[in-house]
Amino acid sequence: MTALQELFLKELEAVTSTTALRELRSRYTGKNGVITGELKKLPTLAPHERAAFGKQVNTDKVFIEERFKEYEQVLISKEIKSKLSKDPVDITLPGYYKKPGGRHPVTIVLAEIADIFVSMGFSIEEGPEVESDYYNFSALNIPQNHPARDMQDTFYIETGGQSGEGAFVLRTHTSPVQIRVMEKRVNESRTNGTPLPPLRFIAPGKVYRCDSDISHCPMFHQVEGLVVDKNISFANLKGLLEGFLRKVFGPSVPVRLRPSFFPFTEPSAEVDMGCYFCKGGGCRVCKGTGWIEIMGAGMVDPRVFKNVGYDTGQYSGFAFGMGIERIASLKYGIDDIRLYYEGDLRFLRQF
Ligand code: PHE
Repeated sequence: MTALQELFLKELEAVTSTTALRELRSRYTGKNGVITGELKKLPTLAPHERAAFGKQVNTDKVFIEERFKEYEQVLISKEIKSKLSKDPVDITLPGYYKKPGGRHPVTIVLAEIADIFVSMGFSIEEGPEVESDYYNFSALNIPQNHPARDMQDTFYIETGGQSGEGAFVLRTHTSPVQIRVMEKRVNESRTNGTPLPPLRFIAPGKVYRCDSDISHCPMFHQVEGLVVDKNISFANLKGLLEGFLRKVFGPSVPVRLRPSFFPFTEPSAEVDMGCYFCKGGGCRVCKGTGWIEIMGAGMVDPRVFKNVGYDTGQYSGFAFGMGIERIASLKYGIDDIRLYYEGDLRFLRQF
């Protein structure tokens, strides 16, 4: 063993912490350490002595590094042991737990609705939430002075002072998707001969109305439906919607159609189902009538077909639209629509 190695070992014996150990190491093998100091002596030596001296310094360096590594392991495990004995870990404590996220009730109900329609051969379409006045109103036969266009109901988008036909709105319903899909079909049929009908799809999505109280929210969700083919009748509409509502609310739920009006359907109907809560006896939810209004529907108005270039002599169809929050509220007995969008985990965790 060289004198340098002996000196190092002696100093090493006195070291009791990893901090002190690292300090010792850098004193020996660091940039300005003992080893570097030894190497600096090389030029002062006679040429024939240099090789042997350099080799020796290198051996010393390797020796020091090895002892350092060994001793470091010893010290580390000693330090862990002493830390554990002073500050023991209670391994019986429960671990940290993050509650998993879940699906929002609106998402759950939408998925259920989509499943039912997909199983009946419907496809799923989507349209933009910022919609032109044309698609949201005009193409659906909603005239310029119709109350639905009122600023009190519709969110208009600032587009540099445009109004009327050139204006943009947050769509107030999903019905514009009817127009978009029928137009798309017309274009496809022109370019590659795809037949226009049959058309059978639902279009779920967000809609916006300037309204806010216990049963209205400025943003909510609708599912639109459209069926177009040869020989589509009102009876088909009734049968489909009855079948749908019985899948959602149970096989014995009564369904009735009431005459109503929508500019884009003729004839139009309001679809009611027997009150889910009082089973028809009359309660607060159904305002004593025993019936709950669940969606709007009707035969596609010939004017709508004309606006997209469909031959009304050949084709007929029906459309329907329903609010998803409303269906979810009936299913789960939720009496305030605002609960859906307040993000209160005590509410959301129940689904
Ligand atoms: N778009 C109508 C609404 O939002 C619902 C509807 C859709 C009615 C399709 C008839 C046919 O109230």
